[in-house]
Amino acid sequence: MIKDLLPNVVKVSYKSVTRYANAYGGASANLGPTVKVWMGERNGVFVFNKEYYMRLALDLARTGMGYTSPNPCVGSVIVKNGVVIGSGAHLRAGLAHAEVSALNMAGDNAAGATLYVTLEPCNHHGKTPPCTDDIIKSKIAKVIIATLDPNPLVCGKGVKALEDAGIMVEIGLLKKEADALNQIFFHYIVSKTPFVTLKCGMSLDAKLATKNHISKWITNSNSRLDAHYYRHTHDAILVGVNTILADNPSLTYRGDLKSTKSLIRIILDTNLKTPTDANVVTDKSNPTWIVVGSNVTKEQIAKYPNAKIIQMKDKHIDLKQLMLTLGELQITSILVEGGYTILTSFLEQSLFNQIVVYIAPLLIGGKSAPGLFMGEGFATLNDALKLKYEHMQMIDDNLKLVLTKEQNAQDFDDKEEV
Ligand SMILES: NC(=O)c1ccc[n+]([C@@H]2O[C@H](COP(=O)([O-])OP(=O)(O)OC[C@H]3O[C@@H](n4cnc5c(N)ncnc54)[C@H](OP(=O)(O)O)[C@@H]3O)[C@@H](O)[C@H]2O)c1
Repeated sequence: MIKDLLPNVVKVSYKSVTRYANAYGGASANLGPTVKVWMGERNGVFVFNKEYYMRLALDLARTGMGYTSPNPCVGSVIVKNGVVIGSGAHLRAGLAHAEVSALNMAGDNAAGATLYVTLEPCNHHGKTPPCTDDIIKSKIAKVIIATLDPNPLVCGKGVKALEDAGIMVEIGLLKKEADALNQIFFHYIVSKTPFVTLKCGMSLDAKLATKNHISKWITNSNSRLDAHYYRHTHDAILVGVNTILADNPSLTYRGDLKSTKSLIRIILDTNLKTPTDANVVTDKSNPTWIVVGSNVTKEQIAKYPNAKIIQMKDKHIDLKQLMLTLGELQITSILVEGGYTILTSFLEQSLFNQIVVYIAPLLIGGKSAPGLFMGEGFATLNDALKLKYEHMQMIDDNLKLVLTKEQNAQDFDDKEEV
């Protein structure tokens, strides 16, 4: 029975069983040792191959999403003679790395085993000692890595340290999944600026509010709950001062997950018009940072003892400069929630990594009703922002789309066809 094959620490779900059965044609597939298991009233098939163990490591890594910043999410399992003898995830910056937790669980049994890890093990001293040292000491025979760490302190050096110690290393198993898991960390570590997600709820005609500026609520309650997940996985949430003036939002995480970090609330407010009794200033539940222009005086700033004021060098708030400043302050990701003036500024400067939109089956209409992308607009299709659909999902009657920039966008012929 499965209980005898896997230690209790590994949670086995029927979903993961069927995923393999469906993907590989069930028990007839010859991709690794298969074991028929009986779970409740359903029969399933386990395929014990390298991919299976790496998927376990990826599932473990996923449990750290929203908790590990500024570190990446990492999962690891150690396998010996087809049995998982150790498993671990990186749960928070400063706590043990995934490989080290897995090695601690495996103990002396780790000698001669294979270690699966979703990200290249580090070989430098950070908040914790190098993981490669522990792996080498434990006499692990082989390390299978999903993806390399782009952090210049690590990239390739972790692999070299292991290989120099005579450990066999394999790289690239389920790389795409591992890269997707750490898109925020990878962007930040390379660019030193935050990963930017633009998020909005809109009607089918891309309106964010009616001509009377009524926007509560365009989208349904489950879409709004889903949107909270992005507050959980980002370091900061950013809005323009008009959203504060219009809605007095609290900008906190109110989803289902236990949140251990403080979501930082960033308000772009050139002339410091945020009311001193606004929720974001008075509630103290989360840190509030107000970004202001150079014209704001010390006297004005003194009225906001609960907020951190970031004063830009120019009269206006230059978004590119702001991204560099936020990067220096270790903000690895920001969720831009609007309103439309702010969203338009980010879009015009192509300052984003992904867009998340929730579309309601509503037509609001009206030339003066604010839309997702206002401003002057682009004159030609070649100039237009080209996007790629990454994910689509129905949330009750709302359509959720996740889009990224299209890297190899096609050229458009702007001439009229005759
Ligand atoms: N449907 C949705 O998902 C959604 C989400 C959020 C808000 N909303 C709605 O949107 C409305 C507010 O939108 P809004 O467009 O009027 O205001 P906004 O985008 O919230 O704030 C815009 C203001 O931010 C300040 N700002 C500072 N630096 C900026 C920069 N670099 N680029 C752009 N703006 C900068 C400017 O004021 P200063 O010059 O004074 O600094 C600007 O007027 C509200 O009615 C709200 O309910 C809808």
